[in-house]
Amino acid sequence: MCGIVGFVGREEAAPILLDGLRRLEYRGYDSAGIAVFDPKDGLQMVKTKGRIQVLADHIAERGGLKGTIGLGHTRWATHGVPSDVNAHPHMSENGRIAVVHNGIIENYVEIKEFLQSQGVHFTSETDTEVVAQLLEYYYDGNILDTVTKVLHQIRGSYGLGVLCADCPDRLIAARKDSPLILGFGKGFHMIASDVTAVIKYTRDVCYLDDGEIAEITADQCWIYDSYLRPVEKEHHHVDWEISAAEKGGYEHFMLKEIMEQPKAIHATISPRIRDGQVVLDGLDYSEEYLWAMDKIYIIACGSSYHVGMAAKYVLEKYLRKPVEVALASEFRYSEPIVTDRTLALVISQSGETIDTLAALREAKRLGARILSIVNVMGSTIARESDDVLYTWAGPEIAVATTKAYSTQLAVVDLICLSFARKLGTISAEEHDTILAQLQSLPEKLEEVLEQREQIQYLASIYFNHSSVFFIGRNLDYAVGMEGSLKLKEISYLHSEAYAAGELKHGTISLIEQGTLVIALASYRPLFEKTMSNVVEVKSRGAKVLGLTTEPLRGEMEKVADQTITVPEVHPMLLPSLDVVPMQLFAYYVALMHGCDIDKPRNLAKSVTVE
Ligand code: G6P
Repeated sequence: MCGIVGFVGREEAAPILLDGLRRLEYRGYDSAGIAVFDPKDGLQMVKTKGRIQVLADHIAERGGLKGTIGLGHTRWATHGVPSDVNAHPHMSENGRIAVVHNGIIENYVEIKEFLQSQGVHFTSETDTEVVAQLLEYYYDGNILDTVTKVLHQIRGSYGLGVLCADCPDRLIAARKDSPLILGFGKGFHMIASDVTAVIKYTRDVCYLDDGEIAEITADQCWIYDSYLRPVEKEHHHVDWEISAAEKGGYEHFMLKEIMEQPKAIHATISPRIRDGQVVLDGLDYSEEYLWAMDKIYIIACGSSYHVGMAAKYVLEKYLRKPVEVALASEFRYSEPIVTDRTLALVISQSGETIDTLAALREAKRLGARILSIVNVMGSTIARESDDVLYTWAGPEIAVATTKAYSTQLAVVDLICLSFARKLGTISAEEHDTILAQLQSLPEKLEEVLEQREQIQYLASIYFNHSSVFFIGRNLDYAVGMEGSLKLKEISYLHSEAYAAGELKHGTISLIEQGTLVIALASYRPLFEKTMSNVVEVKSRGAKVLGLTTEPLRGEMEKVADQTITVPEVHPMLLPSLDVVPMQLFAYYVALMHGCDIDKPRNLAKSVTVE
């Protein structure tokens, strides 16, 4: 989704802004632009539809952009088609004020009509342009005061960067429901929607909170609340290496991140296991609290929601407490039954997904205690939760999540073991077995990853199928949902996941000669039941690619056309292994179709609009 980077310092701003935009590319975008204040020629702007390289070429063609202060933006279209004109920055009619914006201005129509009635001419179809024009309309010589006044008039969400030609030594930044950080360096300051844009220059950052406004020059930074009262903010040190956000020899970030899963799971699990017990970062979930807990409400979107689907099976089985899984976008507009004894488990890689954040706030308002599983340190969801368990996956750059999904699953397993032990709903023996196997999961994952070439071969057999069905029961069904999502996200093939037993209630009508069915049957207690469904599709002409555990290989091979296996582990841990062949299969199918794997069309990494 849209990305912002801004710089004020003593060096040329344009190369730094372009570099920052390149590092934000992974978020998904369709156009990009830069505005720089040139002391000789005033505010200069270049913006184009398409990739950052196109923007860089345009800038080079005009001999570069001179100036040490500027704003850059990658746009993911919401209001108005992707085009040069609709790309950000947007300028006020007289070219005095440039604005970049993430989010949506909900009352933009009303403001636009008002400004048009005052004779203002608009050039784009965007909601953002009203901010630039409204700033100009109210501008009284003090840009900070004017921004504050405008923020009180707009409704919606924003991460905002403003540059005014009358005070070319400073940038103004503001946020509401759309992330914005400040980066502090020697002789420069930066703003960005995401730390990846500033990490090459500084690791010293500060996260703006909703309603806050910042004013930065090369050497100074002031932060205010929405009434311009000064605010003291904590600085944070970003401790991951820049190389973590680079490809490191792999063709795509996605493949690199798939291969990093053993390391990511180890980093997530190992600090949380001590003396044969799970230690949840010192969080206080007492036996009394857990006994009184009336339900767990899992709230998430996309792949994180699929982790929630797997978590439901695991948590209900071992905690004997009701677990509901809600899509955040549905939760926030339903009338969920939440009490002060409800635990809301909020799952989000980015920690910024707007629907998940809104659902979190709603659950909190209704009295729930919020425990979140988040990958991005200091993200809004992490900060607004009562308790956070971070997944230590490191930065995830590919839009399609892999290692964040796996580490979320691992955290769910840790929560389950910790809570079940306290509730006494798991035997000591089973607890110890699962815990030991959880610790050896990274090695088991390495074994699965060794099958990379075999999965590439299977992808070469099946990549031309236009429609794919994933079937499975229980945890296999949950993994099937993720496998199906991976395939459609990056290869654009139509695919659907079905609970294997549900297939015959309608969808089986779509199975015909040659239809590809990926049958997940690793969950031993339901292996035979699933295999009956596999036989059903096989007898209607389907091609079956089966996934099961090594000991069940022979049984699967009797029915399936091809078989993939994973090592046998405790059923609770199976999703962590099963998902890997699904990720690799999707990756190689997309590769064979020549798709833009790390930046699939229309998708965004961090969805900060509804
Ligand atoms: C987007 C991404 C998905 C992700 C979902 C939820 O749609 O493309 O990969 O699963 O958002 O994101 P979150 O950061 O909240 O886990």
